[in-house]
Amino acid sequence: MSDAYLDANAIRAETFVRYVEIHETLGSTNNRAIELARDVTLELPALIAARHQTAGRGRGANKWSSSEGSLTFSLLLEPAQHEIPTTKWPQLALTTAVAIVDALTPELNPQSLARLAIKWPNDIMLNDAKLCGILTESPGGPAPAKDRLIIGIGININNSFCDPPPAARGLAPPISLTDTTGHTHDLQQILRNVLNSIHNRIVQLAHNDPQLFTTLQSLCWLTEKTVEVSQDHNRQIRGQCLGIDHDGALLIEDSFRTHQIRSGSVRTL
Ligand code: BTN
Repeated sequence: MSDAYLDANAIRAETFVRYVEIHETLGSTNNRAIELARDVTLELPALIAARHQTAGRGRGANKWSSSEGSLTFSLLLEPAQHEIPTTKWPQLALTTAVAIVDALTPELNPQSLARLAIKWPNDIMLNDAKLCGILTESPGGPAPAKDRLIIGIGININNSFCDPPPAARGLAPPISLTDTTGHTHDLQQILRNVLNSIHNRIVQLAHNDPQLFTTLQSLCWLTEKTVEVSQDHNRQIRGQCLGIDHDGALLIEDSFRTHQIRSGSVRTL
């Protein structure tokens, strides 16, 4: 473990995080968070960051590759400590996405046409390319792990995709902040701002603050697009996206009715 690329003491001093691990190389920060979730003495929230991940995971069978200059980290927290009941756990990925947009917006030149948006359920888009992925996981098992949640976040910051690998079918091509702004961004400052925004937005979620929902609606990248949603058992729904409802479900209108989609993957048509 090394704190060469991020400052653990500053993170503890300037954010709501109480325990920090900074790794040079790790398989997956989410996997390390799953291990730590069993430790009853651990002070939470805990942050596990890695400069390089060798086995980063995305949703489903997807992998997450982390090249030099990206931010890859996991937050392990106990939602009840933040007045978030289990019924609201499914909304934590979108709440985190709003927080990340809050923190990244000042990094963009206000004169540029670059636009950040949230692609339900867990991606952040910069214009029409993928800037960030979020993977929330429940460690499961007996207490204390079963009461804890992991929010894994990968943000492309200074890792350029000028020569991107071919995007897998149906997946958005990757992009980084530096590809858009042309300059190098401060990883420590962005991480601090992301963590503070997550804390603020979690407080809003706990208190049903309507501002969280209004912001989420305004950031929904899929609204008005024609999409295909793939769910379990090969079930597919095609229709027009009407946005996201108060519970975080995606609203898709087809010729029969409006569907409330709670899980699945989406591609635009
Ligand atoms: C996705 O786009 O499907 C989600 C990607 C999530 C990647 C992050 S990187 C930090 C954390 N550790 C992992 O193994 N995955 C998440």
